[in-house]
Amino acid sequence: MDPIDFTLNGQAAQAEPGETILKAAQRHGVAIPHLCYKEGLPAEGNCRACVVEVAGERSLAPSCCRAVSPGMAVQTQSERARTSQRMVLELLLSDLPQDAACGELGDWATRSEVAVRPALRALERQQPSCDLSHPAMAVNLDRCIQCTRCVRACRDVQVNDVIGYAGRGAHSQIVFDLGDPMGQSSCVGCGECVQACPTGALSEKLPAADLDKTVDSVCPFCGVGCLLSYQVKDGRIVGVQGRDGPANQGRLCVKGRFGFDYVHHAHRLTQPLIRRSDVPKDVNVTRSPADWASVFRPATWEEALDLAGRGLVQLRDAHGPKALAGFGSAKGSNEEAYLFQKLVRTGFGSNNVDHCTRLCHASSVSALLEGLGSGAVSNQVTDVEHAELALVIGSNTAGNHPVAATWIKNAVQHGLKLVVADPRGTDLSRHAWRRLQFRADTDVALVNAMIYTVLEEGLADQDFIARRVSNFEAIRAGVQAFSPEAMAPVCGIAAETIREVARAYATAKAAMIFWGMGVSQHVHGTDNVRALIALCMV
Ligand code: SF4
Ligand code: SF4
Ligand code: FES
Repeated sequence: MDPIDFTLNGQAAQAEPGETILKAAQRHGVAIPHLCYKEGLPAEGNCRACVVEVAGERSLAPSCCRAVSPGMAVQTQSERARTSQRMVLELLLSDLPQDAACGELGDWATRSEVAVRPALRALERQQPSCDLSHPAMAVNLDRCIQCTRCVRACRDVQVNDVIGYAGRGAHSQIVFDLGDPMGQSSCVGCGECVQACPTGALSEKLPAADLDKTVDSVCPFCGVGCLLSYQVKDGRIVGVQGRDGPANQGRLCVKGRFGFDYVHHAHRLTQPLIRRSDVPKDVNVTRSPADWASVFRPATWEEALDLAGRGLVQLRDAHGPKALAGFGSAKGSNEEAYLFQKLVRTGFGSNNVDHCTRLCHASSVSALLEGLGSGAVSNQVTDVEHAELALVIGSNTAGNHPVAATWIKNAVQHGLKLVVADPRGTDLSRHAWRRLQFRADTDVALVNAMIYTVLEEGLADQDFIARRVSNFEAIRAGVQAFSPEAMAPVCGIAAETIREVARAYATAKAAMIFWGMGVSQHVHGTDNVRALIALCMV
């Protein structure tokens, strides 16, 4: 679609179709104060700090939620617009404690040269007391300007539905669940609200001030791969902010945002240690990790590497390369994994090298290689927004990969049919269209019954099968004994429910399957994945 021509502060300008005045102005380098608007959150237009004058209109327009239209003439700096913007900033500021650092509100007030008049300051309201019940976050509602960014972050971004807005008029305020203290509410601690809050009313318990630097990194906890920035003060990590990345778009979960204390834990090794020759090895003696000095002594990297290298070479030369093996960690980067296997193959001289994914997803990799010719996932999790149906099986996504779960929950809000199949009740199933709590170990029976239904009811994509699927007749023959009626007593799911889900899967314009270690870490892990791939293929 063609760009839209309009006038911004008397200059010719262009906006993308559907673009708001605020965003178009930002692209043209024109700053407009805004508080309740935040990139990534649905605009609500409740603070009115962003009002602008549109030629021919009686009222000022909130630029954060008003789209540019052809020929529109916008004034962001006119006397009327500036007076209104400044009045909003002053009124909001006058409600906050004088000594409070006011975040974005304070920044906009300074930029707009707004100072609160003493007469306004004198009109003090009764301030709510602070809530320090949560281990990681502080709630100081005396700084709240009721912009509802936290409500939208909790409800629309992370879909945790903990924060709400209660009361009327002067009594209105944000609440956790039914007005519970934050620490006793159902808050999962993702901190999205803290990241969204423009005034510090919701903040980390130890808010980071006067940072020395920020260091961009990747969350070390799970495979979602959220980008983040560590905030560093005096050589210590004091806070974390989500960073815009393909997997997280600024979101984080409780682990990524608050789980950094291990970095400075006393038990963490921060220098090479060598076992003391005067302390014999004894497996029956248990020592505290903090007491390392009773067994080890500090060493330089050169000394430690030389000792370890010589020990490995002696073993290799005395017993042959097969006496040595290397076991890597999923916490390492691709580059580190590459170097590690290089060390084992060229240094140790053996192929005895492995990785902890052997335990997690080896079954997935081998079934994917066999069935699809590639051992990797086919899509990003965020593609779920394009799907009509998603089947999540054997995965506690909201617990293990919380940010990935937010994309699935967002898609449900926009109409995705979510099927959660798991012997356990998981948090994600709260959002499911159908929840299949099947008997443990009966994955193959359930999935084969779905394949049977698709084939029996003539729902298979024959054109796709003819072009892309080999050994289709073997799949058909393989599921002959797996009708939903025969499998219902095996997997504990009613036959009609299996058929209903299979029909919805087969007739969806786009469907995705997500599986986790409930499928793969299993004696039938490879068979479970084979069955899921076969379901995709028909
Ligand atoms: S707590 Fe912060 S984000 Fe939530 S409504 Fe108040 S000012 Fe806005
Ligand atoms: S989902 Fe949570 S634990 Fe996983 S990478 Fe993202 S922030 Fe880290
Ligand atoms: S930022 Fe536009 S109304 Fe609040």
